[in-house]
Amino acid sequence: MVVMNRKPLMVGNWKMHGSHLEAIQRVQKLSYRLDPSDYDRVEVGVAPPFTSLRSVQTVVQMDDLRIRIVAQNLHWAEQGAYTGEVSATMLAKLSVSYAIVGHSERRQYFGEDDRAVNRKAKAALAAGVIPIVAVGETLEQREAGETLQVLRKQVGGSLARIPSEQVDRLVIAYEPVWAIGTGRHANPADAQDTIAGIRAQVRDRHGAAADGVRILYGGSMNPGNVAALMAKRDIDGGLVGGSSLDPDTFAACIRYWR
Ligand code: PGA
Repeated sequence: MVVMNRKPLMVGNWKMHGSHLEAIQRVQKLSYRLDPSDYDRVEVGVAPPFTSLRSVQTVVQMDDLRIRIVAQNLHWAEQGAYTGEVSATMLAKLSVSYAIVGHSERRQYFGEDDRAVNRKAKAALAAGVIPIVAVGETLEQREAGETLQVLRKQVGGSLARIPSEQVDRLVIAYEPVWAIGTGRHANPADAQDTIAGIRAQVRDRHGAAADGVRILYGGSMNPGNVAALMAKRDIDGGLVGGSSLDPDTFAACIRYWR
């Protein structure tokens, strides 16, 4: 039997919140709340706005913190006339380890489709940045019983033409749209079933690589529900929005077993 070692990953998605000064304080406070042994159990990341990436990188490097720097988005081109955009190569230079691609807010407000998400995921991999590919169904789709079908399309489209040897490094974040920022998280058993369904879809296409892919849950994760979610076999971590803004609350999510 193959024993897969999927180290849990907890990423705080700060979205469009806070100045670079607040970001510095937030990351420092978070580091004070965590013990070295916490990082042995869980990989920890923060995704600040672009304006704070450099400041957070400086703190992480100077204080030698084991916190991963995560970008919230990127553009697929390496460089060029794309006003307002930031490339994966630029992020890699800033020691960014992961980049979220296809967050539902990007899909909803900025018209990102699976094709754009796929280009971003490939550009990230080419630059040595691991994409966190976000997928999730809306309430309407869920109520119509279309969840797995929607996810199959999103996962298939977002991962198109990515070779299986690269797939096992990927992270997928399952974030039901109706659970994001609503205080209404998915029931852990349902989240487990859906995430196991996503893993099965990846396995259909990429075989054993599916066992290496970390699949996170996101959507109103908080210190009160994190333990029950993390107890599920296929849930490999969390993408935490609102609850990541306060370092105490985020640290409580990271230390979910306590
Ligand atoms: P939330 O956001 O935890 O505030 O629901 C999660 C996300 O959008 O990544």
